[in-house]
Amino acid sequence: MSLPRFTTHHVLGRLVRGASSSPVIVETGGRFVLKLRGAGGGVPALIAELVVGELAERLGLPVPERVLVELEAEFSSDDRNDELHDLLVRSVGLNVGFRYLDGARLPRPEELARLDDAFALGVLWLDGFTLNPDRTSSNPNILFWKERPWLIDHGAALSFHYDWPHVTETSPRELTSYAGHVFAERAGRLSLLDATLARRLDPNALAACLNVVPDELLAAAAPEAPDRARAAYEAFLWKRLKPPRPFTTA
Ligand SMILES: Nc1ncnc2c1ncn2[C@@H]1O[C@H](COP(=O)(O)OP(=O)(O)OP(=O)(O)O)[C@@H](O)[C@H]1O
Ligand SMILES: [Mg+2]
Repeated sequence: MSLPRFTTHHVLGRLVRGASSSPVIVETGGRFVLKLRGAGGGVPALIAELVVGELAERLGLPVPERVLVELEAEFSSDDRNDELHDLLVRSVGLNVGFRYLDGARLPRPEELARLDDAFALGVLWLDGFTLNPDRTSSNPNILFWKERPWLIDHGAALSFHYDWPHVTETSPRELTSYAGHVFAERAGRLSLLDATLARRLDPNALAACLNVVPDELLAAAAPEAPDRARAAYEAFLWKRLKPPRPFTTA
């Protein structure tokens, strides 16, 4: 499946002040939050956003709809901030957009604590599987929208892709520590859902998740040709899924 693709030459502004990757808002075929290739995480962070977003949905966890957005070289911006301008210059080309969840809000800690295990254990499992460090109590990267929790911000996951030459047969077996995770207290119950979740991800499903990543992004980030790069991600993730899973035994 390929994602919808849009082109834009206009940026409305920063989504929120102080967000580490300075996502911006654009209006093109709808309103989207744009994660920029010129931000600190670079193109690999965009790949992680796409792949983990797909994996999450296969596990039944809601993530805002993803699209691809080409930022044109002759762009304009309503926000004249100099640093933002430099970031946009670095981000000309293909970026990743998320449907803007109008009216979404950050949940309070007690609301997160009340979420059921079917959701929270799924999130823990996803984060352990994809090596996502970015769902802590202080920054849970969960939004409430339409009475439902939505997962955002997976750019820091799959960190092995910053150092492919050091990926070995055993790298995918790295144990996950859930210390600091917003749902860490529930980790002891992961085994309850482990088999059910794992069944949803076979090699075909992993391939489908990698297929949404366009060649342009892989070519900009991976040392190998796009199809070989996809196969390398799939192999890593499949080895990580082999029981006993290193993220359900910790
Ligand atoms: N799709 C969306 N719809 C509405 N608001 C969003 C959406 N995605 C992100 N936000 C808002 O923007 C904030 C920052 O987004 P995100 O976490 O993806 O970026 P970040 O640069 O990694 O930020 P941080 O460093 O704060 O984690 C979120 O906490 C949320 O308030
Ligand atoms: Mg965030």
